[in-house]
Amino acid sequence: MEKLNQLSEVYFLNHSLVTQNLNKGFKVYGETLIDFEGKEYRVWDPRRSKLAAAVLNGLESLELNIDSKVLYLGASTGTTASHISDILSQGIIYCVEFSPRMMRELLRVCENRYNMMPLLEDATKPQKYLNLLEKVDVVYADVAQPQQSDLFMQNMRLSMKKEGKGLIMIKSRSIDVTKKPAKVFKEEEKKLKTSGFRVLEKIKLSPYEKDHLALLVEFSF
Ligand SMILES: C[S@@+](CC[C@H](N)C(=O)[O-])C[C@H]1O[C@@H](n2cnc3c(N)ncnc32)[C@H](O)[C@@H]1O
Repeated sequence: MEKLNQLSEVYFLNHSLVTQNLNKGFKVYGETLIDFEGKEYRVWDPRRSKLAAAVLNGLESLELNIDSKVLYLGASTGTTASHISDILSQGIIYCVEFSPRMMRELLRVCENRYNMMPLLEDATKPQKYLNLLEKVDVVYADVAQPQQSDLFMQNMRLSMKKEGKGLIMIKSRSIDVTKKPAKVFKEEEKKLKTSGFRVLEKIKLSPYEKDHLALLVEFSF
């Protein structure tokens, strides 16, 4: 087993990216479980999780530590959120999802994980939920909506610690199908830069996801 340099609690085992299963014996999305030296690991599939794809493609300075606090926008049924939950054994992940259908499945995952808190909320209205939460170290956004970077920035301004980091997964087709992906990515990056954020890393997600870009940002003051 090999520890990944850039992210704590993420490993390579049998040539796969893995996290240690916080809920031993249980799968979240049909992933393979591997026993190694008395511990159980879950294979983290880069074709099912954009964060795994970004990590395999070289994402370096996202700090997810065992005690990190994360706000996750667009948690869906918990595929990626559950791997973050594996990493944060002493932290917490607040999972925002506005679809009741997705939330029903997400609840099944959260019930068995003490560090995943589900929030049936609209990420475009952070004032509704953020005054109930503490400040977070990381804001992660994967809502695949045209207004995604606006809601990402709004959530970061209201919830992120000064030294925190935000990671946004941009799907060019969700923003404008008529524009070339490179143009969409440039415009989204410019929006973030002119709104007070510094872009730390830009990672394309191919071959795992077509026309997707991950942007890691922080406040630029
Ligand atoms: C691409 S999927 C997320 C996949 C997930 N991040 C993963 O890797 O496991 C996008 C999700 O965002 C949710 N979503 C879209 N707009 C939203 C909003 N305004 N507020 C909350 N959730 C939203 C959708 O219902 C959908 O479940």
